Parts: sequence; structure tokens; C-alpha cells
Amino acid sequence: MNRYFKLSLLAAASLGLIGTAQAADEVEVLHWWTSGGEAAAVQVLKEDLESKNVGWQDMAVAGGGGDAARTTLKTRVTAGDPPTAGQMLGMAVRDWAEQGSLGNLNEIAATEGWEDVVPSAVKAFAKYEDDWVAAPVNIHRPHWVWSNPQVLADNGIDAPPSSWEEFNAAAEKLQANGVIPLAHGGQPWQDATIFEAVVLGLGGADFYQKSIIEADEEAITSDTMKAVFDQMRTMRGFVDPNFSGRDWNLATAMVLNGEAAMQIMGDWAKGEIVAAELIPGEDILCSLVPGTEGSFLFNTDFFAMFNVGDDKQAAQMQLASSILAPGFQETFNLTKGSIPANMQVSDENFDLCGQKSMADLKAAESAGTLMGSLAHGHGQPSAVQAAYVDVVTEHFNSDMSSEDAVQKMAAAVADAQF
Ligand code: GAL
Repeated sequence: MNRYFKLSLLAAASLGLIGTAQAADEVEVLHWWTSGGEAAAVQVLKEDLESKNVGWQDMAVAGGGGDAARTTLKTRVTAGDPPTAGQMLGMAVRDWAEQGSLGNLNEIAATEGWEDVVPSAVKAFAKYEDDWVAAPVNIHRPHWVWSNPQVLADNGIDAPPSSWEEFNAAAEKLQANGVIPLAHGGQPWQDATIFEAVVLGLGGADFYQKSIIEADEEAITSDTMKAVFDQMRTMRGFVDPNFSGRDWNLATAMVLNGEAAMQIMGDWAKGEIVAAELIPGEDILCSLVPGTEGSFLFNTDFFAMFNVGDDKQAAQMQLASSILAPGFQETFNLTKGSIPANMQVSDENFDLCGQKSMADLKAAESAGTLMGSLAHGHGQPSAVQAAYVDVVTEHFNSDMSSEDAVQKMAAAVADAQF
């Protein structure tokens, strides 16, 4: 290229007449948000960046909970070709940071005051050895019951169940009337989502802390954990025969269209409700899984920023900055079903379920009952998490006794720890 041409190209670029090189003003983002509500949330991020002249190269890997996305990400990074950013859950941020794959966001975090607006429990994953390595976009709560009030009323059930006795009694009644009580997708992460909710619901916050966060053998083999597996067995009887392998959003759709009465799922299900133009808390009710009031299990979606070349860093920093901006956090989380990771955002425009979650988060933070979700990568490192989840799924899909399940779980967890 001759000097004159080069100069005029630069001049044209600086006047905004032509785009600069693709790599410089684009971000490539790997994520697993492909359901209706999830895709709508991605669109909010994409449009926000486009309004700042940063292009969006989409790298969506379908599969709720992110199992497939994790594999694709690994392949890309191992091949020396990381995306600009990757969606990931808490423990995965640590793993990638430990391997030295993530960039440093300290400068932007300091300029924009992230330290003061992100809750400590989330910061514990967004930072690695005091350095910011990932931008948290939301806070999800996995232990909700989503129920169809019309279906409940038609079957003589006044309100969503608030105890396990009520839950089981309502489910039996629904089943006797030919309604599917529990919409469920038989995928390991969905089984685990129910399991951790039952652990918290039957055992309480201290038991969750001991049996899951501390992986305490005595707690894992306790009578309480046996009761958890008993309840899992009971709930296995409340799902329809076609539950195996079903995607979570299809299970949500069963509640929305009245085919099933309830789903136990994180508040990404609220994203589906909003996408279907229904009102959460009115058309579809949100209630906490019995016994979990007063506690808050959380999972946050982070966008971890990979080490990329100098030419890509400006766009990457714009992505990080956009993610934490209060205006964006509000719009994004209204669409996604979660609540903001930036605590400065007011709850004014959120629906009843969102407002409850925001208030509950603060209360749980001060009560010491805010804990990481095991099913969603904030409770245990991935190998230990897998040990728990494998046993949960095996138990759910066989006639394994609760006694065998707790023994198996204790052994698998102990093995995975070493
Ligand atoms: C969770 C994630 C949510 C939602 C869900 C289902 O792990 O945090 O944002 O995407 O999986 O795909």
C-alpha cells in the first residue's frame, strides 16, 4: 500500500467514513443463550454495543446450562484462538484465570467504580488474586417455582405450595386430575437444579452450607440428605414420561400453555414469560421452593475477557464497560429474568418477582444465607460439582435407594476432591 493511500485510509477511518479493520471494532462473544428469553437478552447487549460502534460477532453454542459451550470454549482457547469474551459461571472464571488465559480489567473497574457496586459474593468470582478478570452481567436465583395460576385454580389449589407437604399434596391432586404436576427436562443440570433446591428447602441454610459448600461427609450421609433423596424420588413420580433430555425452555412452555402446573427452575424462566408477553407474578406466578425463604442461592453470568491482541482491546474494554453500566444492567435484566449485578440499579421498573429477588438478596447477604448454586457453577469446583450431579442424575433415573445415593455421593465427592 503506498503512503498516500495509507494516509487517506486513516483519514477516512477517523472521519468514520469507513470501518477500521474488522478485528479492532468487533467483539466475538461465546455464550449459550439461545432460548427465546435468552436470545432477547443477548440482543440487548448486541444493540448496546452497536450504539457505541462496536460490532458483535455471535458465537452461540446451544444447550441450557452451558455444557456444550464450555467444551467449545476450551477447544478455542487451547487452539490459541480465544474469543474476545466468553460467558461463564463463577468457578469457571477461576479456572481460566488460574491458567493465565484472562486479561486484566483493573483500569476500567477503577474508572467506573465497580468495587463499590458489585456485591462481595459476586466479586469473589469476578476477581482473581485481587485483579478484575470478568464482568458480571446479572444475578440469577435458581430455586423458584413457576406455576400457572389458572391450572392451579381449575384443580382446586388456591396458591402455590409453601411447604413440601403442600407441594406433594397439590401434585398428587393435579396428577389424579390428569395434569402434569411438574414440568421437567431430564438433563443433569436440571436434575441438579431441583436437587439443590430440595437440599436448601428441607435442610435449611446451614445444611446447604455444610453438605454442599463444605462437602462435609457427615452432612452428605445424614438422615436429612436421605430425606432429600426421598423427596427427589417422590418428584420423579410427578414428571411426565417424556421428560428425558427435554430442554428447560420447553418445560417452561408446558407451564405457560397449561399442559403442566409447575416448574422448579431459575429465573431465566422469567425471560421466557416476558418473551411470551405474559406478566410474571400475575399470569405466571413465582414463589420460592418450599423452605427456601430467607436464603438465596445465586448464580451469576460473567463475561470473562480473554487475552487478545492490542488491536482488539479497545472493543473488549467497551464490552466490559457496557456490561456494568446501570442503564444497560436494568434493560438487560428485565429481559433476562435475573436482577442486576450492579447494586446501584433501582428496583422500580422490575416486576414483583424481580423486586422480591432484589430485596431478598440484600437480606440474605446480611443474614449470611447468600450461597453459591452448586448446579450453576458457584458451589464447588467443576470436578466436585460433577461428582454430586452424577449421583443425583443416576438416582433420579434408576431405582437407587436414598441410603445408596448418600453413600455413593460421599464417596464420589471425596474422590473428586483429591
Ligand atoms: C444458567 C445461566 C442462565 C441461563 C441458564 C439456562 O447456568 O446462568 O443465564 O442461561 O443456565 O441456559
